Amino acid sequence: MSDPFSTREEAFENAENAPLNTKVEVSIGNVIMQRFSRRGLVFGALAVPVVNQLFGDTVAVAQPGPSRAASAAQAFREVPAGNDETHHVAEGHEVQVVLRWGDALAPGLPEFDPTKLTADEQRQRFGYNNDYLAFFPSGTDGSRGVLCVNHEYASPEMMFPGVGRPDRGDFKAMDAAKVGVEMMAHGVSVVEIARTEAGWQPLVSSPLNRRITADTPMTADGPAAAHPRLKTSSDPTGLSILGTLNNCGGGHTPWGTYLTAEENFNGYFWTDRRDADGKRLNKGLGGPDQKRFERYGVPSNWYNWGQFHERFNVDKERNEPNRFGWIVEIDPRNPTSTPVKHTALGRFRHECAEVHINGDGRVVIYSGDDATFEYVYRYVSNGRYVPGDAVGNAKLLSEGVLSVARYNDDGTGVWLPLVHGQGPLTAENGFQDQGDVLIDARLAGDLLKATPMDRPEDIQVSPKTGKVIVLLTNNERRKADKVDKANPRPENLFGHIIEMTAPNGDHTRETFTWDVLLKCGDPRVAQVGAQWNPATSENGWFGSPDNVAFDIDGRMWIATDQGRNWARTGHADGLYHVETEGTGRGTSKLFFRVPVGAELCGPCFTPDGETVFLAVQHPGIDGAKDYKPFGREPTFEDPPTRWPDFKPNMPPRPSVIAIRRKGGGRIA
Ligand code: FEO
Ligand code: CA
Ligand code: CA
Repeated sequence: MSDPFSTREEAFENAENAPLNTKVEVSIGNVIMQRFSRRGLVFGALAVPVVNQLFGDTVAVAQPGPSRAASAAQAFREVPAGNDETHHVAEGHEVQVVLRWGDALAPGLPEFDPTKLTADEQRQRFGYNNDYLAFFPSGTDGSRGVLCVNHEYASPEMMFPGVGRPDRGDFKAMDAAKVGVEMMAHGVSVVEIARTEAGWQPLVSSPLNRRITADTPMTADGPAAAHPRLKTSSDPTGLSILGTLNNCGGGHTPWGTYLTAEENFNGYFWTDRRDADGKRLNKGLGGPDQKRFERYGVPSNWYNWGQFHERFNVDKERNEPNRFGWIVEIDPRNPTSTPVKHTALGRFRHECAEVHINGDGRVVIYSGDDATFEYVYRYVSNGRYVPGDAVGNAKLLSEGVLSVARYNDDGTGVWLPLVHGQGPLTAENGFQDQGDVLIDARLAGDLLKATPMDRPEDIQVSPKTGKVIVLLTNNERRKADKVDKANPRPENLFGHIIEMTAPNGDHTRETFTWDVLLKCGDPRVAQVGAQWNPATSENGWFGSPDNVAFDIDGRMWIATDQGRNWARTGHADGLYHVETEGTGRGTSKLFFRVPVGAELCGPCFTPDGETVFLAVQHPGIDGAKDYKPFGREPTFEDPPTRWPDFKPNMPPRPSVIAIRRKGGGRIA
């Protein structure tokens, strides 16, 4: 999620916790926008010839096709960058839609009609805004398995007729029934799928199919489970939590479970209190937990669930926000299992939770806190992974040490453990016990002097090189006097990618070294200060990296999310192959791009390397106003695209797609 409310920009203007600051007076972005508009660039339908006109003779002309230094690793014909109403994939590949918002996940449901959608129906249908994906194959030939899909948030203006651009102050059109649908459109879908002659299909009657929503019963374990600050009026145990929220990235474990990361949970918490100007408060609520609330951006009042469900109203239930912001483990093969919130991994706006098994068997999970000036964290289990030891493996995410990263300017770094009683993490500083340290991981990171980063997104260990790939998506709020070597650009509009190296490949050690792999953005605009391999074509560079994935050959793929700022690049979001080794290091190539208004999430490769599943999130929404062929705020009735159905009465639908090579074989 780069910005859940791209059509409601005014809501963010005074919000310090906003994912992006929309008010920047003289920024690189403005310079770039002025330059683009002076040259009369028409965003949308941007193709190679237009770009060539824009930049004249100073730019090497790259036609679609292998880049000049294309290696065997990049032997596919590049897609021309641009933005239009549909998707585009590299030649020789085919795209098939597997699951769309509203698709039935249980037998006997009527054909999907969004104008008649109820909460009870949505609970049995594929949710909204699909993000992270994990595939758990069954059988031996890989033609069947369980796909787990995160549903990060709801976009009411595109889900419901007559909602339009909701007024963030009073949510007039958002009644209890629509809120109920929103809540059921969140969470996770667990869906059994099979590859047939017609491509990958959901098995609608499979007993494994399950929707996990904003009110599915869950439990908690680890040091903060049953903590006084996790207890509420409806749950005096602090162990019985309803639902999961804003599920962005995730992970999967070698013991066969799915991990889902709760990201911008702050947005669901609400206050009835307003300031002198009538604006709903997002700070200054008073009370002993005011500082903690403000450090987490609670309440942000992005959704009005608190008008109908008291637990989301912080005036009535102070501890409910402490029950979100965790990593949740789900057993996809047991539809009656209770998901577990693992407090040992800390509470923040978790982007991701990919698992790395260290050489000694300990579980290592790196996770970013996706907000401006937030931190990179690492969890190391106490126990060791033992294949087949279901009882022992179930504890690996319950007992361990969470640390936060400090990046030194000399290319070294250190992991600072979040352990109660050590250093400043004492009662004197507000931490009564280890539960407090984990619930307030951000405050602990502040005291430990962790390095504030440019919005950490996905982090993953390369299976080939063992290096830790850290995606920093952007941070235009970083001023020149706050630049450091790990966050080297002021007004960082396009993000960068860091590679961290664990000493001797041991990811449990106290130290690491690091280097900048890429500085994103247009390499032809000097003010941007981008860093790419010169072999990268004008189609291949990107901005705002969000998700990283590796295919079965260990090749690295990056998916982007520019939010409404895609107009700064003129490129829709997409999937890029980036070389990390050899003379091609830092060369990027565009493999797939999304329709207007979408971001791309969840690259997930099947074990045979013949399919990549992708999640196309919020098609038709982000930045639709800057899409010249459209140029206005998008709504259910009036969207800039009706992808993927292109039926007159169906709005665009977030969807999971499968890409395969025509005629079979490994993709790309
Ligand atoms: Fe939901 Fe950080 O992207
Ligand atoms: Ca993301
Ligand atoms: Ca990833």
